[in-house]
Amino acid sequence: MSGYIPGLEGVVAAQTRLSHVDGEAGELFIGGYPLMELAPNATFEEVAYLLWHDRLPTAAELAALRARFGSHQELPGAVVDLMTAAAARNTPVIDVVRMGAATLSLQDAEPLDESLERQMWRSEALCAAFPVLVAAYCRIRAGEPLVTPDAALGHAANYLHMLTGQDVDPDFARALETYFVTVLDHGMNASTFTARVIMSTNSDIYSAVTGAVGALKGPAHGGAPGPALDMVFEIGSPENAEANIRGRLERGERLMGFGHRVYKVRDPRADALALASERLYARAGDRSLYELARSVETTALRLLAEYKPGRRLQTNVEFYTALVLHGVGLPTELFTPTFAVGRVGGWTAHCIEQLRNNRLIRPASEYVGRVDRAWVPVEDRTD
Ligand code: ACO
Repeated sequence: MSGYIPGLEGVVAAQTRLSHVDGEAGELFIGGYPLMELAPNATFEEVAYLLWHDRLPTAAELAALRARFGSHQELPGAVVDLMTAAAARNTPVIDVVRMGAATLSLQDAEPLDESLERQMWRSEALCAAFPVLVAAYCRIRAGEPLVTPDAALGHAANYLHMLTGQDVDPDFARALETYFVTVLDHGMNASTFTARVIMSTNSDIYSAVTGAVGALKGPAHGGAPGPALDMVFEIGSPENAEANIRGRLERGERLMGFGHRVYKVRDPRADALALASERLYARAGDRSLYELARSVETTALRLLAEYKPGRRLQTNVEFYTALVLHGVGLPTELFTPTFAVGRVGGWTAHCIEQLRNNRLIRPASEYVGRVDRAWVPVEDRTD
């Protein structure tokens, strides 16, 4: 009997204390806390620290972590050169994040030091550098001067500040912080699994995170929120939703922002981000986009149940991600790179967890090819 499980669905590939996803109950725990406890309150740095050290930092530890982030935020000249070359080809931002992640090993003065302390140093360096990679590339590509990072602002505000060069609205910073916390870690998702597989070979954390960015990029994982927002804009008003969505489903298209491998009920991250976007849009005095999105969601869920009965397709994190990130002023091209800026905290924590109790991840495959072939010299081959 074949043991092959397509997509490894339901296969337990690791034990983790970092996050727990219950797809039937629609629950997510991060470092032991229900998502709804952390999402409106915590910052990126606090939750990254929680995952690395299994407890929240004190005020002094948080300030020290921010200071260390600051020490990792200067871009080396070689990376600026790389970005300049990428900008000349209009390379997508997420590809520059992938290339940039790989270059960060250039700044590691102790590349052979495998101590836990050094892995922690690398984890902090990667988390600190990701927002700089995105912001610096955007500004280089737009022909604008780089903005000096200020890690004391906090991760989210610093990111927006580096992108825009402006003072950051505290409500925007809070909404983005909620987004980062919400997506920081999520069980054995494809990019986290990629990072753990690479780490399990006793490779290095820069390679693991670089591979993870590649896995995140695809539309089945982190690439969905841009198209999800495009769909909402294309629909334009609630009365167009039915015909537009029906047309997509009739053509066999997938609705971006719906469906999940694990969640068979509503993704709790969608709730956390729907709440954040409701606050954001109410405050900005423009509830119309929020109301439109809610109505598109309702119609989409009804039509998914009609076209895909029994599939239990529900709203996933990406639908409201799109609304929050648009609300804080980010263009759609930055949605997936911004996901990476948040998820890198989880990737690094998983790399360290993998190292603490490492065993090479090396599954088996089921051979379905032939075994009856005999060698034919090239001059005798006919086809
Ligand atoms: N729209 C329409 N139909 C869908 C959707 C969707 N969003 N998602 C799944 N289906 C259908 C499939 O067509 C399939 O139908 P069929 O059996 O009649 O052919 C059925 O539901 C099962 O689909 P699978 O591909 O087996 O489901 P899987 O668990 O592999 O897919 C995935 C999960 C990739 C997320 C899928 O739901 C999808 O493509 N969603 C849209 C993209 C998206 O939102 N991605 C972000 C995911 S969240 C994250 O990674 C952070």
